[in-house]
Amino acid sequence: MCGIIGYVGGSSAEPILVEGLRRLEYRGYDSAGLAICNGGVLTCTKVAGKIARLEEEIDGRELPGQCGIAHTRWATHGPPTQDNAHPHTDCSGKIALVHNGIIENYAYLKDTLEKEGHVFTSETDSEVLVHLIEKYFKGNLESAVQQALQWVTGTYGIGVVAVDDPGKIVGARNGSPLVVGIGNGEYFLASDVPAILRHTRQVIYLDDQELVVLTKDGLRTSTIADNEAVTKIVQEISWDVDRAEKEGYAHFMLKEIYEQARTVSDAISGRTVQDDGTARLGGLNLTDEQLRSTKRVIITACGTSFHAGLIGEYMLEEWARIPVEVEYASEFRYRNPVIEDGTLCIVISQSGETADTLAAMREARRRGARALGICNVVGSMIAREADGGVYIHAGPEIGVASTKAFTSQVVVLSLITLLMGRMRHMSVADGQRTIAALRALPGQIQTILEQADEIKRIAKIYCEHDNFLYLGRGCNYPVALEGALKLKEISYIHAEGYPAAEMKHGPIALITKHMPVVVIATKDSAYEKVMGNLSEVKARRGRILAIATEGDSEIKNHAEHVFYIPPTLQALTPVLSVIPLQLLAYYIAVMRECNVDQPRNLAKSVTVE
Ligand code: G6P
Repeated sequence: MCGIIGYVGGSSAEPILVEGLRRLEYRGYDSAGLAICNGGVLTCTKVAGKIARLEEEIDGRELPGQCGIAHTRWATHGPPTQDNAHPHTDCSGKIALVHNGIIENYAYLKDTLEKEGHVFTSETDSEVLVHLIEKYFKGNLESAVQQALQWVTGTYGIGVVAVDDPGKIVGARNGSPLVVGIGNGEYFLASDVPAILRHTRQVIYLDDQELVVLTKDGLRTSTIADNEAVTKIVQEISWDVDRAEKEGYAHFMLKEIYEQARTVSDAISGRTVQDDGTARLGGLNLTDEQLRSTKRVIITACGTSFHAGLIGEYMLEEWARIPVEVEYASEFRYRNPVIEDGTLCIVISQSGETADTLAAMREARRRGARALGICNVVGSMIAREADGGVYIHAGPEIGVASTKAFTSQVVVLSLITLLMGRMRHMSVADGQRTIAALRALPGQIQTILEQADEIKRIAKIYCEHDNFLYLGRGCNYPVALEGALKLKEISYIHAEGYPAAEMKHGPIALITKHMPVVVIATKDSAYEKVMGNLSEVKARRGRILAIATEGDSEIKNHAEHVFYIPPTLQALTPVLSVIPLQLLAYYIAVMRECNVDQPRNLAKSVTVE
């Protein structure tokens, strides 16, 4: 949520900043801007709208200078206007700041600063920071930033430049991610790695309450509270820049859907033990005894990750016979949850920085649960604060609607289940059968992807409808939720996911030939029941698109359109059944000319509550 990039070095800053912003656009895209210092002059350019608008604005103008900061915004305080776009400048126009996060005490600070004579030009919470820095600035920017932040309550990742302390960027972090890129005689500051990967793979992740000073000659990290030097470990990013590019696909979302054969394979790779029929997960930080004595699991997450959690519940109860509760992180954190001894909290987050999920994890830990993070972004807040965890290793996910992260999350949950199941009731033979099924998944995903044109054909038939119902039972009920969410997110069509049998208690009233029903009707223990539900839909002239198991000819008597997926173990079906639904949402959105990668009002990382 909001993307920051900063550059200081020997090259012209402007093209580096604009290119970095493009790679961060998934974090927010309602306004953008940059500020560049050149000698004694600070040039600040900002626009309402996307990065492309910023480029149009800059086009033809010279923005010289080798030190600058830039920002792409997802509005929280104040609408997406030019005035509210970042960078914000102080009264003198000599200090500029970009901010990601929320300043909770901004109203008080603004009031105080206005009384002291500062003049505000935006409605944002962020602007108070630059005036506060102005107040303390006496020629040394890091000292002013450090003093200013003592007054601030809230979350921030900031980048600041000042013409009267030239050739320097000061960054600081509390709750919003910041990574420093180390180049050759040049340094970068960014919200996320893809923004700087073209220039360097050497990075430092700032921790909360840390400040960094970057010049072309070096960097210094320290604590915000008392300016004590902090030694950071330089990390090497292993994935290459192509993984953060579209590689010829029309959209990141389509590319990420197509990556799933590989990402699912990467999630499994090296993590199964064939002979023992179990899983090997290095980063859990739990002893076998702790795993064995787990009495209850709480899974908490938001959005698509929450849906993966629901599938995790199904697996853990079915295979490992452990009672599981799954709860939206935003609800969990504001309840008074009962955490007994032996509770394991599994926290799922692609970004590892969703504010509600992080807060829920902290609450669970405060009450004595051990927390396991299932994250994609390496070094993210949740990954670092959890007691242990498993990375899904799906590579950067840029499309705002999550796809490949979901399938990898489900796979990692199945590995955790396998490990815990084998310590309990699961036999070696069942464990080995599960491993074989897991290993078959990448090939099966590939088969589905090779039939994408069939989904495209079906999408054309359904794309004019404005309401959809998605039905599933058992572990495919969360897939129905996820299919409906994908359609809502990117094509703005109203869609509801429902447990198939529950349809009788309300949604059936909506069914007409104008409300297509998408049903996951794979050959599993609920198959006959689902057929019964489909008859109920058909009797009301509902149109049915079924996701069914290869070889099932009976389904054709019930559904107008059928898309077949290969057979797998029941609990692993979601990894396959979700893919045609991702493709369906994608093609419908494209046919309705929606902005697939940047749907309106959404952001990839929701770092506000
Ligand atoms: C946002 C994104 C969703 C994502 C959710 C949770 O709403 O648009 O795609 O599922 O946040 O994000 P997380 O990074 O915690 O998985």
